[in-house]
Amino acid sequence: MNRWLCCLLGGVLLGLTGGAGAESSAVTGLKWDSKPTSAQIAAGKALSMSCAGCHGAAGNSVSADFPNLGGLNYIYLYKQLLDFKHGARKSPIMAPMVLALSDQNLRDLAAYYSEQKYSPAAGANEDDAERQDKAGLLKLGKRIYEQGLTAGGVTACIRCHGAGAAGRVGHFPRLAGQHAKYLAAQIKAFKAGGRGNDAGKMMEHVALPMSERDIQAVAFYLQSLR
Ligand code: HEC
Ligand code: HEC
Repeated sequence: MNRWLCCLLGGVLLGLTGGAGAESSAVTGLKWDSKPTSAQIAAGKALSMSCAGCHGAAGNSVSADFPNLGGLNYIYLYKQLLDFKHGARKSPIMAPMVLALSDQNLRDLAAYYSEQKYSPAAGANEDDAERQDKAGLLKLGKRIYEQGLTAGGVTACIRCHGAGAAGRVGHFPRLAGQHAKYLAAQIKAFKAGGRGNDAGKMMEHVALPMSERDIQAVAFYLQSLR
């Protein structure tokens, strides 16, 4: 890990574990330990009807083109919705979905999805070529996730995304069980500059040295986790 990233990471983790009441990013203004209320979850459920066509019932999408949302953490989800709305994360599909929604609506939606169980629909991730894993991608992906890549200075994903890729409090999303196609597309977008909403360019620094095979491998490994 390069020195700069090391300091940054230290700072971020310090921020996460720091004193009670420390705020998260300027983007959300929410405290790290914010928990949604049951009224928010109920309001978010009603609003989620317009999302289910793509993201599935309770956020478990059956198409690899649309990310699973169930079980992603509250602050991460809220940040993404704000980023889509204000253009920090560009998506011609998601931008119009959130345009007319109020800040409270976005918090409620984030609340609802964060409380859903993460159980990707059976079959949604199935792919014969991958299941056979002829190229040994699972092993390489696991190594990248847990140890990073010394050659390119790629920081181990586990440091930020946590054990079992379950995510961490704050802006660090769960990755376990997410569709490989979506994960690979996001890593490539961080790498090529198409997605630039990561604070401190954390993901851009991670993605830059990764080869196509590295990206496929780690995405495939993450999809296989439950
Ligand atoms: C027409 C299909 C469609 C609908 C309807 C839709 N989405 Fe999305 N959503 C997408 C796509 C495609 C992406 C991935 C965007 C990208 O490539 O960055 C996405 C991404 C997201 C993400 C980011 C997930 C992550 O892991 O970072 C969130 C959060 C989200 N959508 C929430 C919603 C909510 C809430 C609604 C309803 C108000 C909604 N979406 C409606 C297609 C849709
Ligand atoms: C220094 C901390 C850090 C490291 C190391 C890191 N990530 Fe991330 N990652 C983040 C942050 C922060 C975000 C959320 C960015 C945002 O606010 O949208 C993120 C987002 C992602 C996303 C988008 C998820 C989604 O639902 O859209 C993917 C995919 C991802 N990381 C994969 C990886 C992989 C694979 C590795 C290891 C090769 C890795 N990350 C290492 C901090 C990190």
